[in-house]
Amino acid sequence: MNLLNLSHFKTADFEDLFKLADNFYLAESDSFKQDQILADKKLLNLFFEPSTRTKLSFEVAASNLGMTVFSLDAISSSLTKGESLEDTIEVALNIGIDACVIRHKDSVVHDLADRFPDMVFINAGEGSIAHPSQTLLDLFTIRQSFDDLSKLSYLVVGDLDHSRVLASFLEGLNIVGANKITLCSPAELGKKYADFPNFEEDLNSALDGKDVVMALRIQHERLDHALSISGEEYISKFQINHQRLLDAIGSDRFILMHPGPVNYGIELHADVRNQPYCKINTQVRNGVGIRMAILTKALLT
Ligand code: CP
Repeated sequence: MNLLNLSHFKTADFEDLFKLADNFYLAESDSFKQDQILADKKLLNLFFEPSTRTKLSFEVAASNLGMTVFSLDAISSSLTKGESLEDTIEVALNIGIDACVIRHKDSVVHDLADRFPDMVFINAGEGSIAHPSQTLLDLFTIRQSFDDLSKLSYLVVGDLDHSRVLASFLEGLNIVGANKITLCSPAELGKKYADFPNFEEDLNSALDGKDVVMALRIQHERLDHALSISGEEYISKFQINHQRLLDAIGSDRFILMHPGPVNYGIELHADVRNQPYCKINTQVRNGVGIRMAILTKALLT
């Protein structure tokens, strides 16, 4: 079974996956246990865009499950000698790889999945389009703080246009039935969402009454022109800091998330990082458990 996007998921499928991750969780060490149920399987990581947490957590998740993990570095592979990605996958299949985790700037993973039905494919980030495993770990993290995801008030603030995390998160929120969602950014970083029902350029108004606040970094690597907003203006209007959160939200039962990597000093002030509401490290830890659940589901069903 592949994980290409969330379109085929229902709330019950999320819950199945979350229960699987719960079963791997060790409360005493706040970590995920080793369970060698995939010891006969081989995983190939194929990352054509940079990654720290997704790549590493798939590696640790696979290792916890007893899988043998390989990474193909595109720069030192035969892709640089003109071999196609399709032929690379065919080689991997013939060598005995069972599953490929792929991050790519384009939507290559869907065609590969059609072409190679005997290989399992997991989408680990697809340009600005989708990042399904991130949304699964984000929803899992929210579920640890709140009972009913459908009733919460959500805010996502930052570079909306280039965020595959946001695209998948909105898909996930729609599936769980959440409809109190506000997006906030300067107009030039929120063009795709200009008609979104709750689009705000004022961060203080946008924060009011929120349960879940997700900040996003500016993806300079995907910008094709300089921003008209200066760094100072961005920080003053859109940076989240501790006092701003407390003053604007008007409650102390919210959580703060960020998919990472975080540019502290830009989208987040460093004074939020050790606050009890800040779940950024929890998201990273949960990445291991959720990816263990994804690999188990993908390779055992
Ligand atoms: N959230 C996320 O995808 O982080 P990495 O780019 O470090 O994998």
